Amino acid sequence: MDIKTVATTPFDDQRPGTSGLRKKTRVFLEKTNYLENFVQATFDSLEGFKGKTLVVGGDGRYGNKEAIQTITRMAAANGFGRVLIGKYGLLSTPAASCVIRKYKAFGGFILSASHNPAGIDEDFGIKYNGDNGGPAVEKITEAIYRHTLEIEQYLTCEAPDIHLEKVGSTQIGDTEVVVINPISDYALLMQEIFDFDAIRELFKSDFRMCFDGMSAITGPYARAILENELGAPKGTVINHIPRPDFGGGHPDPNLTYAKKLVSIMFGPTPPEFGAASDGDGDRNMILGRNFFVTPSDSLAILAANATLVPGYKDGLAGVARSMPTSAAVDQVARALQIPCFETPTGWKFFGNLMDAGKITLCGEESFGTGSDHVREKDGLWAVLFWLNILAVRKCSVEDIVRQHWQKYGRNFYTRHDYEGVAKDRAEDMMQNLRNRLHSLPDRVVGSMRISYSDDFSYTDPVDGSKSAGQGIRIQFNDGSRIVYRLSGTGTEGATLRVYIERFEENPAAHRIETQAALSDLIAFANNIAEIQKFTSRSKPTVIT
Ligand code: G1P
Ligand code: ZN
Repeated sequence: MDIKTVATTPFDDQRPGTSGLRKKTRVFLEKTNYLENFVQATFDSLEGFKGKTLVVGGDGRYGNKEAIQTITRMAAANGFGRVLIGKYGLLSTPAASCVIRKYKAFGGFILSASHNPAGIDEDFGIKYNGDNGGPAVEKITEAIYRHTLEIEQYLTCEAPDIHLEKVGSTQIGDTEVVVINPISDYALLMQEIFDFDAIRELFKSDFRMCFDGMSAITGPYARAILENELGAPKGTVINHIPRPDFGGGHPDPNLTYAKKLVSIMFGPTPPEFGAASDGDGDRNMILGRNFFVTPSDSLAILAANATLVPGYKDGLAGVARSMPTSAAVDQVARALQIPCFETPTGWKFFGNLMDAGKITLCGEESFGTGSDHVREKDGLWAVLFWLNILAVRKCSVEDIVRQHWQKYGRNFYTRHDYEGVAKDRAEDMMQNLRNRLHSLPDRVVGSMRISYSDDFSYTDPVDGSKSAGQGIRIQFNDGSRIVYRLSGTGTEGATLRVYIERFEENPAAHRIETQAALSDLIAFANNIAEIQKFTSRSKPTVIT
């Protein structure tokens, strides 16, 4: 193999965020060596990978295959012993995590911009996951960024394109390049966790579901597992073909973007169960007939019902949720007498807790749920978890949720997003609030009193690392909360997220509409932070 050393110049904007490097596709295409710089900077930040295995795959978006050819040549030139690539260049994020773990790879690249639209005028992204299958730790992402500032050259080699359409093995010099089935290892893992026989029986009855692949990565996975393996009727999975532009859609599984699924589930003759996953397959939305399950409730319900699933029959070591996620799962943890961790937003904080055996399940309010079977959130896994529960409990999604509220109380919950706000105004608003934190305790809103307020900081119980400034919390004596934080993933201006939550024990009040149930807290949240003044917006852009 002829290794080529190519001279390159650094860019100053390759700082990986919480979810890797995400930019407009044209940035990757038009800036010379943009991808190469990031890949080489990653290799330069790692030690001891010579002869080891690298996993590469993506969500199939525009640019995916070309990026894989580039990465494979660079991996060979840098001395990896083996590169595992999903057929057609595909691997969902949780499947990539599964493959990294199963084949004891050194790490892997996932090509995706998650739930963001795809295409030449939309987004592209890349992130590096370590040998535990989870997103690279901060030490590595910081090193990658440092290297992108200094990079002068990258290594590649002359080699014909890898034939991505066929499972099989070839060589580039000493490096073996193996195209693998992107579904089978993941499907086997799901089979080990869930009671497939019980779910098969469920589909033999008149139980029906609709899964929306949103023209992104999970279509083929859902077809293979739900339709072929579990016997759901053909057509159960809609929008099942992954398209380079995701069919022009926005593959974020929520009530706004999963339009087709929502119209079916809230239409005249909905099936019992509806679900969707995002662009790269790590998020999930769960629906019943005319019924939406909030991600925070979903996490709590999975935790409460975990022992019905073979993979969790011995119970949970503990649970974790991101700080802004509702405290519904805390109620379950208390009842089960297991630890419940509150982490900053972003998946990487869960990985350490899992590696240390401290938690089994975790989740975020942003439609992410997962367990220690991989080190990423996992959309289809959450759907199978619900199917397993439905197969055992034999009642509707709505019944399961209402019975849960009856037993544990209901955490009314909403998130108000103000997108594309001027960055300095948003930061001023946060600072203004931060300056007044000490004056908030003991203020009264209706029958609630503020017990404390702070700027959330987290000390990792495993490695002792500290993350400060993770969001402003206003906590009330009855369990209600208001949380403010600025998004770390937005691409234009700043996005202010306000999370509002109220705990209601009385079942008679559980049927109130969410925004109405939270109206006094919403008004207080707006006033106290002077949101309208700072953002010049009279109302949020998106309410979830
Ligand atoms: C958002 C979500 C967060 C999630 C992240 C990556 O980040 O809020 O829960 O981990 O996307 O999917 P944010 O934009 O709020 O920083
Ligand atoms: Zn995603």
